[in-house]
Amino acid sequence: MTLDVTGLRKVYPTGDEALKGVDVSVGGSETTAMIGPSGAGKSTFIRCINRLTEPTEGSIELDGTDLTGLDDDGLREARRDIGMIFQEYNLVERLTVMENVLTGRLGYVSGWQAFRRSFPPDDVERAYEILERVGLGEMEDKRVDELSGGQRQRVGIARAVVQQPTILLVDEPTSSLDPETSNTVMRLLTEIAAEREIPVLINIHEVDLATEYADRIVGLHDGEVVFDGPPDDLHDGALDRVYRGGDPPESDAPPADETAASDSSVGSEPGGERASADGVVSPDGGTTDRPGPGEP
Ligand SMILES: Nc1ncnc2c1ncn2[C@@H]1O[C@H](COP(=O)(O)OP(=O)(O)OP(=O)(O)O)[C@@H](O)[C@H]1O
Ligand SMILES: [Mg+2]
Repeated sequence: MTLDVTGLRKVYPTGDEALKGVDVSVGGSETTAMIGPSGAGKSTFIRCINRLTEPTEGSIELDGTDLTGLDDDGLREARRDIGMIFQEYNLVERLTVMENVLTGRLGYVSGWQAFRRSFPPDDVERAYEILERVGLGEMEDKRVDELSGGQRQRVGIARAVVQQPTILLVDEPTSSLDPETSNTVMRLLTEIAAEREIPVLINIHEVDLATEYADRIVGLHDGEVVFDGPPDDLHDGALDRVYRGGDPPESDAPPADETAASDSSVGSEPGGERASADGVVSPDGGTTDRPGPGEP
C-alpha cells in the first residue's frame, strides 16, 4: 500500500492557509511521525487524507486512486481502507468496549445490520482477537466511560484495526496520556504496522516519542514540510526549523537551543526565513530539492 500526497493545499473558509503545497508519500510497513508546533497543519493533513476536511488543491492517491475525485460511494469504499485513530478517542461513551470496536466494521455491513448492530460472527471473532492483542482481553463488556485514558486509546486502536485498513492515520495518540502509557501506545502502533504490514502515519508533538518509535520523521512548519528523513538526521538545526521556523543552518544561524526546540509548547514565531515549499532539510542540514518521482 502506498499513499502519495502531492501539492496538498488547504485554505479554510476563514482564509487560514493551513497547508501550502505538501508532498508526502508513505508505504510499506513504515511508521512515519509527523511533528511540528501547534497550528503547523498536522491534523489538517490527516483530515484531508480521508476528506473529513476537503482539500483545496493537490492529489491524494491511495494505491493509485485519487481520493480527491471520488463521489460519496467511492469515498465510503476508500474509507474502509483507512483506519483513523483520534486524539479525543471519538468513542461512544455509553456503549461497551466490544460495541465500540465493532463500529469499525460498520463500513462492511448493511444499513439494517448496522441499525440493529448485528454483526457477522467473523467480525465478532476478529474483534475479540484484536481486543486481546491490544491488552483489553477481559474488558469487552465494560462501558467505555468506565475506562482510563490509555484503555480508551487502545479501544480506539482496536476499532481502527478491526476495519482491516491498509493504512493507519493517527492524530496525537498520546497527548492526554502519561509517559508510560504513551510508550505503550506508541509501541503498540508500530508493532501493529509491522505485523499487518501496513504504513502508519502518526501526528505527534512529543519529539522524543517520535524519534524513538518512528522509522521516519516529517517536520511541518506553518503548512510546509521543512524536514523529511530518518530520526537520526533530526539534528538541532532541523528541529529549530520545524519548531521555530528558524533560518537554515547554511545562513550561519546560531545553533538551536535543544530544550526550547523539543518543548512541545513552543509556538511558531513570526519572521525567520524558512525553506521554500519544495525544499527539505538534507541530512547535513542544508536545503535540497525534493527528488522527483522515480528518482532515488
Ligand atoms: N476548522 C478550521 N477553520 C479554520 N481554520 C482552521 C480550522 N482547523 C484548523 N485551522 C487552522 O489551520 C492551521 C492548522 O491547524 P491544525 O489543527 O491542522 O494544526 P496542528 O498542527 O494539528 O496543531 P496542534 O498541534 O495544535 O493539533 C491553524 O492555523 C488553525 O488555526
Ligand atoms: Mg492537531
